[in-house]
Amino acid sequence: MVTASSSRTPCRARISSLATYVPPRVLTNADLEKMVDTSDEWILQRTGIRERHIVEPGVATSDLAAEAARQAIARAGLKPTDIDFIVVGTTTPDMLFPSTACLVQHKIGATRAWGYDLFAACSGFTYALTTAAQMVSNGGSRHALVIGADVMSSIIDYTDRTTCVIFGDGAGAAVVEASGDPDIGIIDFENYIDGSGGESLCMPAGGSLRPASTDTIAQRLHYVKQDGQAVFKFAVRNTEEACRRILQRNNLSAEKIDLLVSHQANRRIILSAAEKLGVPEEKVVINIERFGNTTAATIPLALSDAVDDQRLKRGDLLLMVSVGAGFTVGSLLLKWGLKT
Ligand code: UT7
Repeated sequence: MVTASSSRTPCRARISSLATYVPPRVLTNADLEKMVDTSDEWILQRTGIRERHIVEPGVATSDLAAEAARQAIARAGLKPTDIDFIVVGTTTPDMLFPSTACLVQHKIGATRAWGYDLFAACSGFTYALTTAAQMVSNGGSRHALVIGADVMSSIIDYTDRTTCVIFGDGAGAAVVEASGDPDIGIIDFENYIDGSGGESLCMPAGGSLRPASTDTIAQRLHYVKQDGQAVFKFAVRNTEEACRRILQRNNLSAEKIDLLVSHQANRRIILSAAEKLGVPEEKVVINIERFGNTTAATIPLALSDAVDDQRLKRGDLLLMVSVGAGFTVGSLLLKWGLKT
């Protein structure tokens, strides 16, 4: 495992605004019952998902990302031209290049920003937030735009019941700025990767190893392949581990956490990790029933619901955690407080 972390930064960064976007079309468990051999009961029991949103043909990740980004920038009281850095966590870029960051920059008119895409699968948002927070803390950016966005429906095999019931499409965006308030902002992060788990969750073709060909298409290799149980076990263990490490380093016990916002891959993963950590269910945000697993967008979608439901309030100690393909693991500890 490769570990990178930092707890002391020159100035603390914070999330000053947040916005999300999901496409209007809803794919319910009943719809999936007509497509593959599954049932509403199985999906709900095994994953916690009732429905997910998916795009219409022709709508791409940068479209969802741009919708969320425009709102986040407006909510921060800024103009697109105030943004100087864009980092997009995604596994489903519109195309391999140009990057989604370039496409979003152009769509929203953030003409003064530079940026790039970050490939960390379901840890896309946590890793992008870590990156932007470091940029802001070190003075490299004044107004950074962090996006987690995925159109998972573009890489899902809707004849494979083991994957198609899980995923959905969505986007979340946050503006990250220096915090004027010493009690608000990102305190620490704990990120690590374990590349030995690569084969457990991947899209085998379409890269330099197996470029697209009639053969790879015939073998359906441009779709997500997952060893569900292997990923499940790794996710439970490492959701807990990443949280434990960051709490320990900051001399905090789990009781001090006001809210746990985990990546939403499976209701059972989140609850068993929380139980092992000793965080009660009422302090855990779960909204997977409405969105499914939107990969890099789950955490902003969950944060946004928590804010709307007033479960996440100014000054709350928030623990964010994600486990994704790679494997990638990330957690952030922060004191919540939006700009307005
Ligand atoms: O965010 C990225 C990370 N991804 C994850 O974290 C996903 C982690 N894995 C999971 O969430 C779970 O492993 C799944 C939801 C993918 C699967 O749940 P499970 O409880 O691990 O099921 P399983 O793979 O052990 O399969 C149990 C049974 C099998 O049938 P048999 O062999 O017992 O007869 C499967 O064929 O359920 C069957 N099955 C289904 N049945 C109805 C698998 N998928 C379905 C389905 N509908 N959609």
